[in-house]
Amino acid sequence: MGSNKFGLMTVISITIAVSCLVKVVPIQGQGLVPPVSGLEYGFYQSSCPCAENTVRTSIISFLSSNVSQAGGVIRLLYHDCFVQGCDASLLINDTNGEQTSFPNLTLRQSAFAIIDLIKSQLESKCPGVVSCADILALAVRECINQTGGSFFEIPTGRRDSLNFSSDATVRANLKPPTSNISVLISSFSSKGLNPTDLAAVSGAHTVGTSHCNSFSNRLRPTVDPTLNSTLAIKLQQLCPNSSNINALTNLDMVTPNTFDNQYFTNNLQGNVLLTSDAALLNNTETKTTVQSLSSSTTQFSKQFSISLIKMSMISVLTGSAGNIRKVCSVLNAPGSSAATVTAPVTEIIDEFVEKATIYNT
Ligand code: HEM
Repeated sequence: MGSNKFGLMTVISITIAVSCLVKVVPIQGQGLVPPVSGLEYGFYQSSCPCAENTVRTSIISFLSSNVSQAGGVIRLLYHDCFVQGCDASLLINDTNGEQTSFPNLTLRQSAFAIIDLIKSQLESKCPGVVSCADILALAVRECINQTGGSFFEIPTGRRDSLNFSSDATVRANLKPPTSNISVLISSFSSKGLNPTDLAAVSGAHTVGTSHCNSFSNRLRPTVDPTLNSTLAIKLQQLCPNSSNINALTNLDMVTPNTFDNQYFTNNLQGNVLLTSDAALLNNTETKTTVQSLSSSTTQFSKQFSISLIKMSMISVLTGSAGNIRKVCSVLNAPGSSAATVTAPVTEIIDEFVEKATIYNT
């Protein structure tokens, strides 16, 4: 096991070194969405030409050892962007604030470690240049593309926060999975995202896993009538009582590790896990989007990319706001440009997979 990890790190180091030699393809600026002020397509083209390739090759290496890591990384972007903006505040390893707030307790520690490792690679190539907020957005883009989703340009130029949020702010901004459609629409609207965006980005639940307690409200005391009855029986077996807190199941039972439009087809058949997923059928606009993205992979790729890019630009810090963190999980030392360097991450262990059994329903 240990030698496999060293092997993986060697592969990552070699591929990252090669990625910086690759001729950089000019960014055409033909993004799907106009960047907000301060962001641009290809922001690092001069200052760190290998930035995007470094993120890409690193993500390819991580996913080649465990493809399910994609879900963990993708989820980080939503949880970061909806709480004080896409500023990497979520990544700070606090003991009494954003990262330790209840909605964030099921985020994968391995996903945080992946972002830290990519940052340490980029610090050795382009010290103090590439922000953690951009690394996260680029890593998510790669996770989507490397699991079968389309490739899309994503604007960069985000800067990192100088602080992290409180528990109360997290709870106010990340709505629980038991939320109804009105709560979800209003939450997204407060971030500048419309009901079509809400339905489209919920399509990220085409990969990744969920714990029982995220959907047990649909199983008892009575079974949610909108849940497919065959799936309900399987989920009751998986989650017989609250003691099985480590049980995980795939969010998309049909193609769990492929970034495709299967989530939308599942939704129309009552085969989604969360109340918030099923709720998309309770509003005309979100339901029409679910139907349309279920029936067309082209439309899915296009609308998902547009809505994800919009989400990735919520309340970004740009220009001279914020800073460029040296280590994504640690705030820079106050009043100093010196790095607060921690030991490089040498092992990425997916603790979810280590501790839990993933049930394929
Ligand atoms: C609409 C509001 C949303 C709610 C209420 C919600 C809620 C949840 C919940 C409860 C889980 C399972 C957590 C667990 O039990 O381990 C989950 C997983 C996940 N969510 Fe969401 N989510 C929402 C939107 C999003 C968005 C916008 C994205 C990204 C674009 C996203 C990406 C993911 C991913 C990839 C997973 C799997 C994580 C893993 O495998 O570790 N979600 N979500």
